[in-house]
Amino acid sequence: MKDLPGAPETLAAQALGQEDPVSGALVPPVHLSTTFARLDDYSLPDGRSYVRDHGESQQHVERVICALDGGFDAISFSSGLAACTAPFHALNQGDHVLVSDTIYHGVLSWLEEFAAARGIDVDLFPVGDLGAFGSLVRPGVTRLAWLETPANPVWTVTDIAAFSDLAHSHGILVAVDSTCATPVLTRPIEHGADIVCHSATKYLNGHSDVLAGVLVTREDSAFWQRIRRHRLLAGPTLGGMEAWLLMRGLRTLYLRVRQQSANALCLAEWLSAHPGVEKVHYPGLPQDPGHTIACKQMHGGFGGMLSILVPGGREAAIAVACRARVFKRATSLGGVESVLEHRKTSESDVTSTPENLIRISCGIELVDDLIGDFEQMLG
Ligand SMILES: Cc1ncc(COP(=O)(O)O)c(C=O)c1O
Repeated sequence: MKDLPGAPETLAAQALGQEDPVSGALVPPVHLSTTFARLDDYSLPDGRSYVRDHGESQQHVERVICALDGGFDAISFSSGLAACTAPFHALNQGDHVLVSDTIYHGVLSWLEEFAAARGIDVDLFPVGDLGAFGSLVRPGVTRLAWLETPANPVWTVTDIAAFSDLAHSHGILVAVDSTCATPVLTRPIEHGADIVCHSATKYLNGHSDVLAGVLVTREDSAFWQRIRRHRLLAGPTLGGMEAWLLMRGLRTLYLRVRQQSANALCLAEWLSAHPGVEKVHYPGLPQDPGHTIACKQMHGGFGGMLSILVPGGREAAIAVACRARVFKRATSLGGVESVLEHRKTSESDVTSTPENLIRISCGIELVDDLIGDFEQMLG
C-alpha cells in the first residue's frame, strides 16, 4: 500500500495513511506474533521470519518516525537508553568519541561505567563549545560526536549545523539526542546530523505509558547496518504492544508539542518575573544564552521543558516541589500531564546539576492552572 503524501502533521495524524489490507480498518491492528509462517516452497512471503527484527507494528512506527524526521531509515528499541547506547555498541575497540558534557545523565553513566571496558575512548567537551570540540578531535580516530539539544537539564541549545560542519570536516559522524525538541520543533538531519536519537518514552508517545526509543539515520551506511545487527543480536527490541501504543500517541504529537511549548513559554515568562526565582532556564526567553540559535533551529516553539533555580539550595528546592498540587512530583517528561522534580535527586554524581534546580515538564493543561500552582508553591 502506498504511503500518504503530505506534511508531517498529516503523516502523523494518519499514521502514514495505512488501512488494514484485510479489514479496511483505519486503525492498524496490534501485531503480537513473534514468528512468521513459511510457504509450501519454504519461502518467507513477506521476508519476515522472527520478531526481533521483523515485527509489523514496530516497522510501521519506525516508518512514521523516519518520515517525520526526514530520514532514510529508523530502528526502534525497547527504551530510549537502548537507542542512545546502540551507536556506542556499534563502535570498534580503539575508537574515540566526543560527547557533550550536558546530556541525559543515563548516557553519561553508561559511558563512564562501560565504555572503557569496551575499548572506547571518551572525551567530554563543554556543551556547545566548538573550539573545545575541535581541539579534542583525534584525526582518523574520532568516529562519533554525541550531543543533545535542548540539553538536560538546563536546556542549552547547540548549533547542530555548525557542529556537523566541523565534525564532518574530520570525518566524524554526528548523533543528536533530539528527545526534547521532537521532529515538531527541529529536524536535526536537515541541519546536518547523521543520526537522530529519541527517547520515545517522552513526547513521541506523550502519555507516560510506554518505554521506547528510536534512532533515525540520514543515509544507509556500514555503521548503520552494524547498529541494526546490534539490535538483532543483543535483542533490545520494542514490544509489539508498545509499538502500537507509541503509534497511537504519535498521531497527536504535533498538537501536544505545540501546546506544551506554548504553556512552557508562558510559564517561563511568568517565572522570570517572580522575585522567588533566582534563574529560569528556557531557550524561548530572549535573555537565554541559547535563544538566538534556538530561533534559527527550532520552529514553532521552544519546547515544553524548562528549569528554575530557587534561592536557598537543595532543601529549599525540595520544599517548593513538595507544595505542588497541579504539577505531579515525578521524574520523566513529555507527557500530557505537567510534572516537576528536584532534578539532582534523580541524577547520579556524573552531572553538575545545581542542587537548587527544579526541572519542569509542561503538559497540555490550561496554563493559568500551571501558573496558579507556582504562585502558591513560591508563596
Ligand atoms: C533526553 C533523554 N534521552 C534519553 C533518555 C532515556 O530514555 P528512556 O527512559 O526511554 O530509556 C531520557 C530519559 O529521561 C532523556 O530525557
